[in-house]
Amino acid sequence: MSRPRVALFPGSFDPFTNGHLDLARRAAVLFDRVVIAVAHNSAKTSLFTPEERVEMIEASIRGLKGASAIHFTGLLVDCARRIGAQAIIRGLRAVSDFEFEFQMALMNRRLAPRLEIAFLMPSQEFTYLNSTLVKEVARHGGRIRGLVPPIVERRLHDRFRKAAEKVTPPRAASRARRER
Ligand code: PNS
Repeated sequence: MSRPRVALFPGSFDPFTNGHLDLARRAAVLFDRVVIAVAHNSAKTSLFTPEERVEMIEASIRGLKGASAIHFTGLLVDCARRIGAQAIIRGLRAVSDFEFEFQMALMNRRLAPRLEIAFLMPSQEFTYLNSTLVKEVARHGGRIRGLVPPIVERRLHDRFRKAAEKVTPPRAASRARRER
């Protein structure tokens, strides 16, 4: 029997969006297994812990055959080696993504020459979408339905509601509501 084709789909996924889900679905058509890997990035401050991000991804990909989620520290190429991936999946939304992706791909190729990097294009409706924008909209109470999986929508609302309550203690908030 031939070796299963395994792809590693890495990213920050803070949080996972419907654009990411679209790419995971496309990758699942091409590969037997797609492992979505959340990077621990100490240089970036993130809204959700890697464990929370994995949990949201797992709920979002339920039913997607061959897909799973993990988190990892260290180099991406080492993670790929550990799970036996032959390819890395990255999304390209616009030309502006290309320069960074190209640099990263060449560095990864230098580190692991036999690992292929496959770029997939998301559906057109997600070309403007990224996690930072989604967080920004959610932080200010804007509508994010359709941009993220339902579990991510709930978690974002919870997170920002709690943050608002910290700034305005609950008793003060309810008094302010009564007085409005
Ligand atoms: O979603 P992002 O933030 O664009 O993903 C970037 C990510 C996580 C894929 C990249 O930072 C990465 O691979 N990090 C792991 C550390 C590593 O291998 N760095 C060298 C890449 S050339």
